[in-house]
Amino acid sequence: MAKNNKRGTETKPVSLITLIDKSSPISEQYRTIRTNIQFASTVDHEIKTIVVTSSGAGEGKSTTAANLAVVFANAGQRVLLVDADLRKPTVHKTFHLQNNVGFSNLLSTKETMSNVIQASVVPNLSLLTSGPKPPNPSELLSTARMDQLIRELRGAFDLVIFDMPPIVQVTDAQIMASKVDGTMLVVREDVSSKDAVVKAQKLLQMVNANILGAIYHGTKNAVDQGYYYYGS
Ligand SMILES: Nc1ncnc2c1ncn2[C@@H]1O[C@H](COP(=O)(O)OP(=O)(O)O)[C@@H](O)[C@H]1O
Ligand SMILES: [Mg+2]
Repeated sequence: MAKNNKRGTETKPVSLITLIDKSSPISEQYRTIRTNIQFASTVDHEIKTIVVTSSGAGEGKSTTAANLAVVFANAGQRVLLVDADLRKPTVHKTFHLQNNVGFSNLLSTKETMSNVIQASVVPNLSLLTSGPKPPNPSELLSTARMDQLIRELRGAFDLVIFDMPPIVQVTDAQIMASKVDGTMLVVREDVSSKDAVVKAQKLLQMVNANILGAIYHGTKNAVDQGYYYYGS
């Protein structure tokens, strides 16, 4: 049973260090990443929609996406965190929300944004949970409806962060990376394999994704426990 859960869609909430301990060095590093992303945004190329992905599972995509959403909201930006991992969603667990309706409904039915976007305990941070698992996540993300939705969300929020599945295993993140303003690649020490990270980068380059940088984390060195950002 436990084995099935591990391989299935069972997921855990992630730690919101930026909410629990704002003054920790890790929270500070998330704020540094926020600053770097802000500097990547120019008048000609505004960064308003961001994909967070990694090569494989359990590498910290959802942790990174949720904590980045919190620090951007803390800076006064109207932020929407979208659980676009329709296969292994976590946002509703992390923020203790219902997930009866969400992103999948927006893509596949006539559901409106205001009916499915939920408020969070963090001022300025709104959440779009995954919604029911659809049979065809990649097809849903490839629709014209998805393009239209990105346009609508860009108008309604200062920043939209998409928490995606791993890019080497399924094509969802590649599809979305080709549509958004920028992509962050998460790399976790001892979990991400070098070959897979190189493959992830190639998959992003193939669709001309704007790779904003990589976030390296999980190092055991006591001084370096936190997160590092490497601009592209
Ligand atoms: N740097 C880290 N150190 C320790 N545990 C971590 C770290 N980053 C993530 N985790 C834990 O690993 C698990 C997977 O993280 P998650 O963000 O859900 O990964 P992904 O979304 O890439 O599958 C979660 O239980 C999370 O709390
Ligand atoms: Mg995840």
